Amino acid sequence: MIDVADLTEAQAAEELTKLADQITHHDLAYHQNDAPEISDADYDALKRRNLAIEERFPHLIRENSPSMRVGAPRAEQFSAVEHGVPMLSLDNAFSDEDALEFDARIRRFLRLDETPIAYTAEPKIDGLSASLRYEKGILVQGATRGDGRVGEDVTANLRTLKDIPHRLSGSGWPDVIEVRGEVYLGHAEFAALNAAAMEAGDRTYANPRNAAAGSLRQIDSTITAKRPLRFFAYAWGLVSEKFAETQWEALAKLKAWGFQTTPQSTCVQGADGLLAAYAVLERERPNLGYDIDGVVYKVDRLDWQQRLGFVSRAPRWGIARKFPAEQARTVLEAIDLQVGRTGAVTPVARLKPVTVGGVTVTNATLHNADEIARKDLHIGDTVVVQRAGDVIPQVVEAIPELRPAGAAPYEFPTHCPCPLQTPLARETTAGGAETVVRRCTGELACPFQRIEHLKHFVSRRAFDIEGLGEKQLQGFYDEGLIREPADIFTLAERDKVSLKKLKDRERAGETSVANLFAAIETRRTIPLDRFIYGLGIRHIGEQTALVMARGYGTAAEFLAAMDKVAAGDEEAVAELDAMDQIGDAVIQAAAAFFAEDHNRGMVQRLSDQLTVLDAEKPKTDTAVAGKTVVFTGALERMTRDEAKAQAEGLGAKVASSVSKKTDLVVAGPGAGSKLKTATELGIQVMTEDEWLAMVAG
Ligand code: IVH
Repeated sequence: MIDVADLTEAQAAEELTKLADQITHHDLAYHQNDAPEISDADYDALKRRNLAIEERFPHLIRENSPSMRVGAPRAEQFSAVEHGVPMLSLDNAFSDEDALEFDARIRRFLRLDETPIAYTAEPKIDGLSASLRYEKGILVQGATRGDGRVGEDVTANLRTLKDIPHRLSGSGWPDVIEVRGEVYLGHAEFAALNAAAMEAGDRTYANPRNAAAGSLRQIDSTITAKRPLRFFAYAWGLVSEKFAETQWEALAKLKAWGFQTTPQSTCVQGADGLLAAYAVLERERPNLGYDIDGVVYKVDRLDWQQRLGFVSRAPRWGIARKFPAEQARTVLEAIDLQVGRTGAVTPVARLKPVTVGGVTVTNATLHNADEIARKDLHIGDTVVVQRAGDVIPQVVEAIPELRPAGAAPYEFPTHCPCPLQTPLARETTAGGAETVVRRCTGELACPFQRIEHLKHFVSRRAFDIEGLGEKQLQGFYDEGLIREPADIFTLAERDKVSLKKLKDRERAGETSVANLFAAIETRRTIPLDRFIYGLGIRHIGEQTALVMARGYGTAAEFLAAMDKVAAGDEEAVAELDAMDQIGDAVIQAAAAFFAEDHNRGMVQRLSDQLTVLDAEKPKTDTAVAGKTVVFTGALERMTRDEAKAQAEGLGAKVASSVSKKTDLVVAGPGAGSKLKTATELGIQVMTEDEWLAMVAG
């Protein structure tokens, strides 16, 4: 890479364009898809380079330069919420010197004498910020930060958090207040969520922060409700009246109104206090059970905060003192490819074991082929590995000076590492653009995908076969006894006539084999939605499987429809498309799956073994059957989840935004933009009580 000082103007212009594209791409991956493709450190390096070039060539600064943005624009599936007061960010400090300079700067600005300034020192929670609007003590709207000015309306999702009060307790709250804080996920909850996702063959999250963001930004709030997200309040935006003199007093009030505030926050005096608070939190960090990435210092007196004000996007009265990332050097011994259930291939670095921040690291994800090329990794390289908030360690860079002689750059394999060595294909988006994902094209002919597929099939939320965990399954697979789902259900029959009985095998006693056969028998009868989910078709998760099961009713209908979808039958495709929340990705995945003879054969052999229970068809004889209903504002007699379940039980569809397709809007206190849209579109609106009376009658 050319030194910024040596760039010609033309090179600088070209690089700024490239950097803007790259940064935008990574912003979207991070903020909208909650699936970062590069480490925070690499992202910061791109931003720093962009800034350095802009500093040397200020006239080349683009109007939409990445240096002018905070976060990313909201995703389209959520409606927009304009924050009453923008949600800005904090400048960073990285050393004791930076912290001392912060104190000195404030002193100069306020022209203070030597008397120490009081500051709060609060853990910097590593989650995503949210703003909660309360009117007369009632939660009326919740939003993500978005680009700082306009966020996403995630009210229904935020209401599912147990740390977020629907009504404020105590008294003395302003008539209108935007309470701000951090939504986060604890380490234990993150590990459990990823373990369940892994077992189910679903995507896993890189770290608790991405998992929190992904969980909060669900279209279906019942999914958010299942994720144990938590919330700490630490700030506020718009307020109708002043409610505290100091930050410390404000934190106490937030607590009294029913919020959680960080127990480790302290109020300290002067620069010495700032440094001491940092040292304490750095020591406490491993014991907290959730990620913090630094300490936030804030001038305690709010009248001083007011005087200090803001410079561009950050306040003068506060700063985030970041913890350094925990890093170590080790040797990259090999790069292996892992093949997932749907064939996506992930390169994994095998490292000489090294301790990083108290944890022994032996593997690190390398994300994808582009990432390896960008870091120019050679096998045998000494590399810097890092754990920075992220549970999964990352390879930051190679150290070329320490490269052994003769080490060649890593060449990404062109074929799957399975015995079949099927070619790897670079995945393209629906629009035809290449993505960074490479996929094994062998599908179920690839033994790696087969075993992952079987693991998914027996997982807890699919067929849930007790006694047939990953280890046992691998054993049966290796022996050739189970190669596809149907084999599980013929295992007992085959064992009867086998000369080498399962019960006589090493470690497998008679009772445990009998128990396994019994467990398999209980699953021979299975609800249609679990059957569909168990097939492990890409993009067909539990919720989609349920929607399809309800839509088709019986296994026969489902299978007949899938054959037609695979053949491109327009009517069948339209029928599937009309189902709630089903879009192109699902249709394409279903069509591709059922177009393959071996998949159809596999499904047929499986269904021959099973009794698939019909799904409960939605009721058709109620006042709301077939109607699309939107709940908005606060509900006072039932929770959102109850309301949704009740409406669905009566055959209605519940949507999260109002459109021409909406038949009915149930509006509670504080209903905002959705109510307005409903009125504009002439859609029927009723109160919660009117709704309850209607469905009761
Ligand atoms: S105060 C004007 N306090 O850090 C900004 N922020 O880089 C006021 N954060 O967007 C923010 N813990 O997501 C504040 N105790 C804390 C915090 C905190 C985490 C996050 C927040 C903010 C970012 C600033």
